[in-house]
Amino acid sequence: MADVDRLKALAAERALEFISNGMVVGLGTGSTAKHLIRLLGERVRGGFRVLGVPTSIATEKMAREAGIPLTTLAEHAELDLVIDGADEVDPARNLLKGGGGALVREKIVAAAARSRVIIVDETKLVDVLGRRFALPVEVIPFAVPTATAAIARLGGRAELRLTSGSGNAFVSDNGNPILDCRFGDITDPARLERDVTLIPGVVDCGLFVGFDPIVVVAAHSGTRIIR
Ligand code: 5RP
Repeated sequence: MADVDRLKALAAERALEFISNGMVVGLGTGSTAKHLIRLLGERVRGGFRVLGVPTSIATEKMAREAGIPLTTLAEHAELDLVIDGADEVDPARNLLKGGGGALVREKIVAAAARSRVIIVDETKLVDVLGRRFALPVEVIPFAVPTATAAIARLGGRAELRLTSGSGNAFVSDNGNPILDCRFGDITDPARLERDVTLIPGVVDCGLFVGFDPIVVVAAHSGTRIIR
């Protein structure tokens, strides 16, 4: 396992302590969440009872393979907990997410959960959001040109996300493209989230503000909890 992947696995393992028997748990998307699903699957096979709500088709497939029983928001509109990764976490525990393109379902599940646990390796902790990572914005196909122009008016540079390899436009699980938007330092994430999501045709963006997550950080020296 590569070094950073080992840290992701450590964070996922530590997060298991937040899951109690019988909980309905949102299952995040990405390479860190993948470890959580694997480890939770092992627990389920050992008799642990849990119901998962996947935040993406990829996670749904992985969870099924791991033997985790699944449910839907139609059956459980309120969840006990969600555990998910993030691309950046700032000192106020605001998040930038969506590197894996699952931001819309991830935010819906985060909002439906009574508590949220974010699992990251220490490289994800940043002083300010947006310096390293572009902000993913999911838009309906019809709105790509107008949303691109609106993002420019907000001071951002939008680039249509392409699927690595084929060069075709990336399509989310919801059938939409994603604009990766460079705004430079995002000093007021709440304001930018509001401004971007007010653009007609924008479904949502990868800023997760005010969710008050518990953050599990894995470093070479061990794991720590920030809350
Ligand atoms: C997917 C996400 C992921 O949580 C985020 O991209 C982190 O991914 P990884 O754990 O692979 O670093 O927001 O939409």
